[in-house]
Amino acid sequence: MSEPKEVFSSRLGVILAVAGSAVGLGNFLRFPGLAAQYGGGAFMIAYFISLLVLGIPIGWAEWTMGRKGGLAGFHSSPGIFHAIVKTPLGKYLGLLGFIIPVVVYMYYVYIEAWCLGYALNAATGTFSQPGVNYGAFFNSFTGAGSNGVALHFGLQDVGIFVLLVYACNFYIIYKGLSKGIEFVCKWGMPVLILIALIILGRVLTLGTPDPLKPDQNVLNGLGYMWNPRGIATGLKNPQLWLAAAGQIFFSLSVGFGAIITYASYLRKKDDLVLSGLTATAANEFCEVGLGGLITVPAAFVFLGAAGIIGQGTFGLGFNVLPFVFSKMPFGDFFATIFYLLLFLAAITSSLSMLQPGIAFFEEGLGLKRKAAMLSLVLLTGLGTLVVWFFSKDLKALDTIDFWVGTVGIFVQGMILVMVYAWYIGIDQAWQETHEGSAMRIPDIYKFILRFVSPVFLLVVFVMFIAANVLGWNFSLAAAEFKPTSYVTDLVGPNPSAVARGTFLFILAMVSMIGYLVHLSGKNWNKQIGGNTS
Ligand code: TRP
Repeated sequence: MSEPKEVFSSRLGVILAVAGSAVGLGNFLRFPGLAAQYGGGAFMIAYFISLLVLGIPIGWAEWTMGRKGGLAGFHSSPGIFHAIVKTPLGKYLGLLGFIIPVVVYMYYVYIEAWCLGYALNAATGTFSQPGVNYGAFFNSFTGAGSNGVALHFGLQDVGIFVLLVYACNFYIIYKGLSKGIEFVCKWGMPVLILIALIILGRVLTLGTPDPLKPDQNVLNGLGYMWNPRGIATGLKNPQLWLAAAGQIFFSLSVGFGAIITYASYLRKKDDLVLSGLTATAANEFCEVGLGGLITVPAAFVFLGAAGIIGQGTFGLGFNVLPFVFSKMPFGDFFATIFYLLLFLAAITSSLSMLQPGIAFFEEGLGLKRKAAMLSLVLLTGLGTLVVWFFSKDLKALDTIDFWVGTVGIFVQGMILVMVYAWYIGIDQAWQETHEGSAMRIPDIYKFILRFVSPVFLLVVFVMFIAANVLGWNFSLAAAEFKPTSYVTDLVGPNPSAVARGTFLFILAMVSMIGYLVHLSGKNWNKQIGGNTS
C-alpha cells in the first residue's frame, strides 16, 4: 500500500554516501587546526582513543538503530526512536537527531558557499593580484567585517554562491536517494581524493622555498603538525580530551541523526559491521592521511609557526591559505582545486543534513516530496539568512555552531548509545547488529557500549560544559568559574544582541520542531490503530 521505498542501489553506494557525509569541512579545516593547536601527537592519542571507544561503537549502534527503524517503515530520527522506544515519549528522544542536522545545515551551507566562491576567485586570479589584502577580502566576502555587508551579489560577494549552493543541494535531494545522493557521492568521493592527492603532492615537494629561512621546510612543517609536544601535560588537560572527542563525533557525523537516516534505507540482510568500519576508515584516511598533511605544513613552509598559531579554523582556511597558495608556482591552479575539494567535501556532507529533514516531513507530516522540499528550503533558508546577515565576527554562525553543532551532538550521542545498549538491551542489540554481517565484533565492545562509551561521554560532556560554558579553568586549587563568552554574550553585563537573537532563534526552532514531532506522533498513532501494514 505504501509508495515504493527508496533504497540505495549498491552496497558501495551506501558506504560512499556515509563516507561522503563524514568527510567534510571537519576533515580539511577543523581537524588540522585542532591538532596543531593541541600539540600534534599528544592530541592524536586522545583522538584515537575517542575513535575506538566512541566513534566506532556508536557508529555501529547508529547503523543498527537506523536499519531497525527503516524495517519498521521509518527514516527520520524521531520516527525511528518512536518505532524503537515504545512509549509516547520515545519520539522526543530522537528530536535532536532531526534538529541538529537541519540547524547545522543552516550555517554549514554558508561556509560551503565560501568554498565555491573562493574557488572561482582563485580561478580568476583574485588572490594572486599584487597587493591584495586577504583579510579585507575575507571580511567583506563572508561579512565577518560588519553586519549586512555579505548580502551582495557580485563576483566577489558570497551572494550568488549561496543561491547556487542551495540550488545544488536541493536539486540533488530532489533527484532522490540513489539517483541524487548516491550518484553524487559515487563520483564526488573519488574525485575529492584525487584532488587531495594532487595537492598533497604539491605540498610535500615544496622543499624550502625561502633559502634565508632554512627552518621553514616541509619536514619541519610535518613535524609541527605531528611531533608530540608536551604529551605528559597535554594528556592531563581535559580541554584536549574534549576537543578530541568532539572532533571524532563531528567528523564521523556519528550519533546525531545523519547516519541513522542513511542506514534506515538498508535491507535486513545488509552488512552493517563492515560497512560502518569501511566508512569510518575512509573518513580517517581523508582526515589524518590527507587533511592532516596539507594545510598546516603548507602554511608552515611559508609563514612558520607564527602564521598558524592563533588562527582559528576559518583564519587558516580562508585567510592564511590564499596567501600561501599565491606564493607557490601555479598557485592559482592549486588554490582553485583546493577550494573545489573543500566544496565537494562540504556538499556530500550537507546532503546528509537534508535527507533526515525530508524524511521527517514526508513520514511525519505526510507531505509529498515537493512539499517536503519546499518546507525545508523555507526553514533552512530562514536560518541561513540570519547567519548571512548577522555576520559581524561570524557571531550568529558561531553561536549556532556552539550550542547546536557542539553541545547538542553530545546529548544525542548519549541518548543513542543508551537506547541501544540499555533499552534494546545489549544482547538483543548485538544480535541485530550482526544480522547479515560477515564479521564479528570483538565481545569487548559489548562492555564498551554498555559502560565505557556512555560514561566516557557523560564525563566529557560535563567537563565540556564546565570548561566551555561555565569557564572552569580546571585548576582544582582555585575552583573558579568564569563563564565564557558563549554565556556572557547571552546574560552578561554586556550582552550581544546578535548572540541573544540567535539563541532565541534556536529556541524557536526547537519548540517548533518539537511541536511538529508532537503532531507526527498523532499521525503515527492513527496509522498503528488504523492498519497493520
Ligand atoms: N562530518 C561532517 C564534517 O566533517 C559534518 C557533518 C556531516 C555533520 N553531517 C552532519 C554535522 C550532520 C552535523 C550534523 O564536516
